[in-house]
Amino acid sequence: MGDLVLGIETSCDETAAAVVEGRDTIRSNIVASQAKVHALYGGIVPELASRRHLEMIAPVIRLAVQEAGIAFNDLTGLAVTAGPGLVGSLLVGVSTAKALAYTLQKPLAAVNHIEGHLYAVLLEHPQLEYPFVALVASGGHTHLYHAERPGVYRLLGATRDDAAGEAFDKVATLLGLPYPGGPHIERAARTGDPRTVPLPRPTIGHGSLDFSFSGLKTAVIHALEARRHRVPRRGGGIRRADPEADRLDPQLVADIAVSFQQAVVDVLTRNTIKAANRVRAGRILLTGGVACNQTLRQHLADRALQDGIAVYWPRPELCTDNAAMIAAAGSARLQRGDVAPLDLNASADLPLA
Ligand code: KG4
Ligand code: ZN
Repeated sequence: MGDLVLGIETSCDETAAAVVEGRDTIRSNIVASQAKVHALYGGIVPELASRRHLEMIAPVIRLAVQEAGIAFNDLTGLAVTAGPGLVGSLLVGVSTAKALAYTLQKPLAAVNHIEGHLYAVLLEHPQLEYPFVALVASGGHTHLYHAERPGVYRLLGATRDDAAGEAFDKVATLLGLPYPGGPHIERAARTGDPRTVPLPRPTIGHGSLDFSFSGLKTAVIHALEARRHRVPRRGGGIRRADPEADRLDPQLVADIAVSFQQAVVDVLTRNTIKAANRVRAGRILLTGGVACNQTLRQHLADRALQDGIAVYWPRPELCTDNAAMIAAAGSARLQRGDVAPLDLNASADLPLA
């Protein structure tokens, strides 16, 4: 039997615990999502998130150990997300993990959440070799990394404003779609016509691999303003619809959804391919919640193939936040003897590179 590591993840709005054996066997993977709590507000409310983590953390950990069919004492070690994320949320996981490590007298690994997302891909493809370029695209991050070997990462590019997932969520809200918006935009896009509402492909220029998505969101606001209040007037022309009768036309929602999705996909693909070619990496990892998007997967894989580059992504439940990826990253750290001290603190902006 390989090492058994308990992973704990509370950086954002999922309370998660998982047991991973060795490099690639998920013995349990429990995720208690708070999405419904935050959906009412159209985004994450930090105070509510930490309170909910406090309520859920003990039962979620207990269930993860139970479902793995082990006892706490069978664990080789523990791993916890120490950052980046919401500090109040992170602290719930970090203090619980430290208390457990101390009580059980087991080593604890401090894991960077973004490194966790990389290990989600490595869990699924354990034979994957370094070096590679990774695009981490989620609600909180849009980062391009060059990983030369395990634990050695160089940041090649990042968003200068909104994260890709955040842009999906904000545009979904504008379109009257539920939170989190990514999957809803993807669904709406299926019946849209991408030619109806042309949107820009924001560039930073000067050879930069950074991203910017806030201009795209503004372009969607303008496109909506230009179209939503126009209803045909009897005898021709247009008039402003009265606000009560103002519901977005489902076809307009679909047209904007497909056009927006394609713009984000184009920009993510362009910079990721550029990054891989720049550092001569033959492998690209695609991970984070936005990596669930089928159009992004397909488009990036097709484009990479033209340059002889292979693209890897995890199954959907490993793309979004989970603790299996934290256990896997922690397991690798523990094997390298990288044990966290028991005065470990959470860090809201913990850098990876
Ligand atoms: O990795 P994740 O669960 O949490 C963060 O670390 O942020 O990512 C959640 C984000 C949300 O913004 C959500 O809208 C986006 O991933 N997302 C998607 C899709 N599924 C989830 N974005 C585009 N298309 C999807 N199918
Ligand atoms: Zn994440």
